[in-house]
Amino acid sequence: MNLSVRKLDEIRADIGEDDLNNLLSTFKCSAEPAAERFLKKTAIKHDRESISRTYLAVGEDESGLDTIKGFFTLAIKCISVEEYDPIPKDILEQMNVNNKIAQAYLLGQLAKADGVEKGFGREMIKRAFHYFAKGNEMFGCRVARLDCRDSLIDYYESCGFTFIRKNFDKELNQMVAII
Ligand SMILES: CC(C)(COP(=O)(O)OP(=O)(O)OC[C@H]1O[C@@H](n2cnc3c(N)ncnc32)[C@H](O)[C@@H]1OP(=O)(O)O)[C@@H](O)C(=O)NCCC(=O)NCCS
Repeated sequence: MNLSVRKLDEIRADIGEDDLNNLLSTFKCSAEPAAERFLKKTAIKHDRESISRTYLAVGEDESGLDTIKGFFTLAIKCISVEEYDPIPKDILEQMNVNNKIAQAYLLGQLAKADGVEKGFGREMIKRAFHYFAKGNEMFGCRVARLDCRDSLIDYYESCGFTFIRKNFDKELNQMVAII
């Protein structure tokens, strides 16, 4: 599967914010409306404020226009680690915990458009790891984290993440991977 991934801010610089908003407005993800909303309402703002970086996996449709097949959003978000957290020893040892904090890259959003083939999300995760590895190479940090709902734990485990605990309000699960 060949992914064509472009940075949101580069597309904005190329085509301008109005056309970018038009492009984003075509994205539909019925399985996760919150992800669709993030892309349409928040991604540009967070990019502008350097809160996160969004990457679009783009494709060409029959008329030659770009379509968004999926997107992912990366950021930095540390993890607090307590002694009683059930983190496997081999992972914990690699997290470089200092004063109960481990620095981490965040896979903040991940979604593919309705109708896009199975396995596309997994390819986007591989690309996200490629960017994390570049970060690690340039300024260190080898932990990636994400928060997901119960139904996606098995999926993310199959992508190399390990469940570490429920989040504070117990709605989401925190998972980590060593880059
Ligand atoms: C998550 C996602 C990118 C994975 O894409 P993929 O690698 O191509 O894999 P699939 O779409 O086949 O999904 C993998 C499994 O997760 C399940 N799944 C995906 N999104 C789900 C969701 N929002 N809620 C519950 N289950 C979900 C799929 O049903 C599938 O299960 P199966 O293997 O038993 O059929 C894609 O399914 C997606 O865009 N989902 C909606 C957005 C989303 O939920 N993002 C994650 C937020 S943490």
